[in-house]
Amino acid sequence: MLVTGGCGFIGTNFIRYLLEESDFEGRVVNVDKLTYAGNPENLADLESGFGDRYVFVKADICDRDAVGRVYREYEIDTVCHFAAESHVDRSIVRPEDFIQTNIVGTFNLLEAARDREGRLELFHHISTDEVFGSLAEAGLFTEKTPYNPSSPYSASKAASDHLVRAYHRTYGLPVTISNCSNNYGPYQFPEKLVPLMILNALEEKPLPVYGDGRNVRDWLYVLDHCRAIWTIMKEGKRGETYNVGGRGEIENIRLVEMICDILDSMEESPGKRPRRELITFVKDRPGHDFRYAMDFSKLERDLGWRPTETLGSGIRKTIEWYLENRQWVERVRSGEYRSWIREHYGA
Ligand code: NAD
Ligand code: DAU
Repeated sequence: MLVTGGCGFIGTNFIRYLLEESDFEGRVVNVDKLTYAGNPENLADLESGFGDRYVFVKADICDRDAVGRVYREYEIDTVCHFAAESHVDRSIVRPEDFIQTNIVGTFNLLEAARDREGRLELFHHISTDEVFGSLAEAGLFTEKTPYNPSSPYSASKAASDHLVRAYHRTYGLPVTISNCSNNYGPYQFPEKLVPLMILNALEEKPLPVYGDGRNVRDWLYVLDHCRAIWTIMKEGKRGETYNVGGRGEIENIRLVEMICDILDSMEESPGKRPRRELITFVKDRPGHDFRYAMDFSKLERDLGWRPTETLGSGIRKTIEWYLENRQWVERVRSGEYRSWIREHYGA
């Protein structure tokens, strides 16, 4: 199985789940360019622990020749495609990389899959609820909701979804797509809301909440997402799309308050004041979608998946992980792991 973007947040959790917990018996070939968001140290122990069942290849999915070589050399029959530029704020400041990786990179992977001429059993594409745009106070996104993306990030993901579906309809490529809501959990790069708030709160730095903090996201613990992906890959109908969500709707401000309160209950802040006092309202994100919420009844009804973590239990586990892995945080923030990458992978 080719897994792209396996050194990122969800990819790391997925590869660990696949090898350590699931019934997958094959070999994982992890192709990752190692951008600022990719950290191969996350999976370094698998190289010894799983022998040739885990292979890492440093490559850019925008490099068509490199992608073709991987498919041929490792006789890829299954693809799980995570690699992407994933941060909305970065896409607003500098959209270029999003167009290249998310659209052109996906196109390259699809073309290489087409070249396998019938030997490809599945191309699973990981996508987002952001392709649907924004909801008002009520309602849920279903698989039939028309696409209406707001940011360069979500527009690039929408384009890649359309390409994947087009390759199914035009060339008969066996594909499945999952559109998932906001993930949180171990190994998330600390530019995203949950880890940023946990770490700032621990360090008594301001907690920057965009706008009035009333925007709503539907949070899902990352391992529940991994289980959903594997379920869809094994049992999902080819050509179909599945929504994945957490029934974890909450306003940003309430989530940040929850993080502050859990941290306060675990360890008193050095300044001995409630961490909620660190919350600072800042300028809103341009084009900020108001609300996301997923109807995942198709996945629940047809394939029997549902989330196992509640928002409370998942956030607590996540906080515990960041408390126990301060060294990981220091390394991804300091750029120290960049030198580790140079040493091991020569770039
Ligand atoms: P991430 O930013 O943590 O990781 C992305 C990974 O892709 C990194 O390892 C990076 O090095 C790699 N990468 C980037 N450009 C590449 C390229 N050109 N070639 C090869 N590798 C490249 O992202 P994430 O949060 O783990 O998200 C993974 C996927 O899931 C993305 O497709 C994203 O759109 C989707 N998704 C994310 C969420 C979420 O809440 N994080 C929710 C729904 C869907
Ligand atoms: O919905 C799925 C998407 O979730 C994925 O497709 C994206 O890859 C992933 O990054 C995430 O996008 P968001 O923009 O929703 O995630 P982020 O953590 O950046 O922001 C979550 C919410 O918190 C959003 O409403 C903006 C707000 N926010 C974010 C940051 C970083 C703040 O208020 N302050 C912040 O500092």
